[in-house]
Amino acid sequence: MTELNWQEIWAGKQKQRLRPLKLTYDTDFRAKFAEDQSEIAKYNDFEYGRAATEALGEIPDKDCEVLEIGTGPGTLTIPLAKRVKRLVAVESFDTAVNYLKRNLEENRVENVTISNANWLEVDDRELKDGFDLVVCSHFLWQVKDVENHLRKMENASRGYCAVIQPAGRAELVKELWRKITGKVYSGEFDPDADHFVYLILRLWGRLVNVRIMNYSIERNFEQEVRYIASFIGRYVEVDAHVKETIEQYVSDRNKEQQSAVVMWWKVAP
Ligand SMILES: C[S@@+](CC[C@H](N)C(=O)[O-])C[C@H]1O[C@@H](n2cnc3c(N)ncnc32)[C@H](O)[C@@H]1O
Repeated sequence: MTELNWQEIWAGKQKQRLRPLKLTYDTDFRAKFAEDQSEIAKYNDFEYGRAATEALGEIPDKDCEVLEIGTGPGTLTIPLAKRVKRLVAVESFDTAVNYLKRNLEENRVENVTISNANWLEVDDRELKDGFDLVVCSHFLWQVKDVENHLRKMENASRGYCAVIQPAGRAELVKELWRKITGKVYSGEFDPDADHFVYLILRLWGRLVNVRIMNYSIERNFEQEVRYIASFIGRYVEVDAHVKETIEQYVSDRNKEQQSAVVMWWKVAP
């Protein structure tokens, strides 16, 4: 039996995901897309973040100090911060930081410190054992070396680490991929990456708790078009013509049922 080289598989998939986005139909796409992420995070009073916080059970309590990596506009941050003593939010993208600040204010959350920094460049010595819980949500594809990322997370924790990663992609994205590229969809945009984390942690001897959470996301017409364009645009230039094709399949309000895998474990003493 040939041995699975998961590092090579990860590197290949991750490179695929970071392909530059080719979007020519709207010069303001990036700014609008960032705003969409903030608006969607708030859907149903932060449904995703509330479900993820619940899934972590007893860990987030009033004495808990949390480090969250790649917070975006506060999708998980806002509900989680309401349950814990304090939370440090590491986020490298200025626009996301601005939305996070606004969302914290709107929700009167005052126990969050924002670190506008690149997680990969944060000094491990400064973080060592600094937190009871170190968590990242929907972040895995941002890192080239997933093993190093997990090691860095563990270094910062004196208690638990948690990884939350969505699973599965909407049928509409897959269908439009087929229509626009003429190719069979073969997982190009699947967010699933939890299995890599599980494998590495088990090889390190960690016992990993796994829970599945379900949540819904709602997007309006324009947001759904941008959402689909943000995937297709990694492979095909989304010009006015491709955008029109996408528009033909999108309805006024789009509600998607999603699942995510929540994993947490106790770090080695
Ligand atoms: C897919 S979003 C996830 C946002 C949020 N955590 C959620 O669950 O929806 C990934 C976020 O990580 C941020 N990010 C990417 N690489 C980063 C890095 N090296 N350091 C800090 N933040 C980073 C991005 O700017 C983005 O806001």
